[in-house]
Amino acid sequence: MASDIPQRRLGPSGLLVSAVGLGCNNFGRPGTKTETIDGTRAVLDAALDAGVTFLDTADMYGREPGLSETLMGEALEGRRDRFVVATKFGHFGRDMGYVPSGAKGSRSYVRRAVEGSLSRLRTDWIDLYQLHTPDPETPIAETLDVLADLVREGKVRYIGHSNLAGWQIAEADYVAAAGRGIPFVSAQNHYSLLARAAEREVLPAVERFGLGFLPYFPLHNGLLTGRFSRENAPADSRIMRQRPHVWEEAPWDALESYQEFCAERDITMLQATFGWLLSRGPVTSVIAGATSPEQVTSNAAAATAWSPSADDLAAIDAMFPLPEDPAAKV
Ligand SMILES: NC(=O)c1ccc[n+]([C@@H]2O[C@H](COP(=O)([O-])OP(=O)(O)OC[C@H]3O[C@@H](n4cnc5c(N)ncnc54)[C@H](OP(=O)(O)O)[C@@H]3O)[C@@H](O)[C@H]2O)c1
Repeated sequence: MASDIPQRRLGPSGLLVSAVGLGCNNFGRPGTKTETIDGTRAVLDAALDAGVTFLDTADMYGREPGLSETLMGEALEGRRDRFVVATKFGHFGRDMGYVPSGAKGSRSYVRRAVEGSLSRLRTDWIDLYQLHTPDPETPIAETLDVLADLVREGKVRYIGHSNLAGWQIAEADYVAAAGRGIPFVSAQNHYSLLARAAEREVLPAVERFGLGFLPYFPLHNGLLTGRFSRENAPADSRIMRQRPHVWEEAPWDALESYQEFCAERDITMLQATFGWLLSRGPVTSVIAGATSPEQVTSNAAAATAWSPSADDLAAIDAMFPLPEDPAAKV
C-alpha cells in the first residue's frame, strides 16, 4: 500500500523517519497479543504496509528484559533495512545483567549494552541509539566519547537521549561542542495533551539545540484515543490491566470537552491527538504504541487526517492548560 505518512528529518541528522512511528514496548508485554512472535510480526507487517517505518524500542522492554528486541530481531529478519530502528540503553530501573554493578553511562557498560542489542535485534547497526535515563554517576563526556566510538565503528548511526532535563540537554550539547564526543540528535521525553511539563524547560532546550523530539506516552497509554469514557473502561486494555490509576484519576471534564471539540470538527479523538502532536514544532515523530494491526493502521491514517488551526490550538490550550509552575512564584 502506498503511504501518505510524511517523512521528517530527525534533528540535524541524516535520518528520515515516518511522522507516525511505532513504540515497541508492547512487544513481549504480558497479556497482550504482541507478547508473542506472531503478534509482533502482525503489527510490524501492518506498520510497514501503512508506511510506519520508524521503530522505537529499548533493551529493557518485555516480560524479561531484552524480549522486545528479541521478537523484533526475529520479525525483522530479511527486511531490516526497510525500517529505521531506534533502541535505548541504561535505564536506571531495570538490571540487564551486563555488569555486576556500575554506572550505566560508563564506557564498559555501554560497550556491553550495544553488543547485547545488536545481537538480539539480529542487525549490524542501530540507526538511533539513545541513553534511556540520565546517569548521575558518569560524566556525560565519557558517555559521549564511547558513543562517538560506536558511530565511527559503524555500529550506531546517530545518538539520542531520553528523560534528560533542560539543563542536562544544554550540558551535553556544550560538552560535545567542546570536542568531547559527538552531539546527540534527538530527545525523548514524556509529552502529551495530559502531560505538558516538557514545555517548560525541555522543549525550549530541544529547539535551542536543534534536536528532533520524540514524545513518549503520546496517547497517554491509550486514554487520548477515545476508547475510554467516564463510564466505560475496556478490561482488555493496558490501562485497566496495568495502570488503572490513569483511568481512575483522568480529568473527565476536560476529556469530555475534548470529545465535543472533536465531534464539532467531525474528527475522531485519535485524529485530533495525532494532529495536535504533529503540529508542535519540535515533534518529529509520534512513536505511539500498538497492540494490534488495526491500531497501527488507524494511527498511520491519523498522521494526515487533521491539522489544527490557530483557533483550534487556543481551544485545546484552554482545555488542557500547562499546569502552573510553583517554582515561577516569587
Ligand atoms: N523513554 C522512555 O522513558 C519511555 C517511556 C515510556 C514509553 N516510551 C516509548 O514510547 C512509546 C509509546 O508509549 P506507549 O506505547 O507506552 O504509550 P502510548 O503510545 O501513549 O499508548 C499506547 C497504547 O495506546 C493504545 N492504542 C494505540 N493505538 C490505538 C488506537 N488506534 N486505538 C485505540 N487504542 C490505541 C494501546 O493500548 P492497549 O495496550 O490497551 O491496546 C497501546 O498500547 C513506547 O512504546 C516506547 O517506545 C519511552
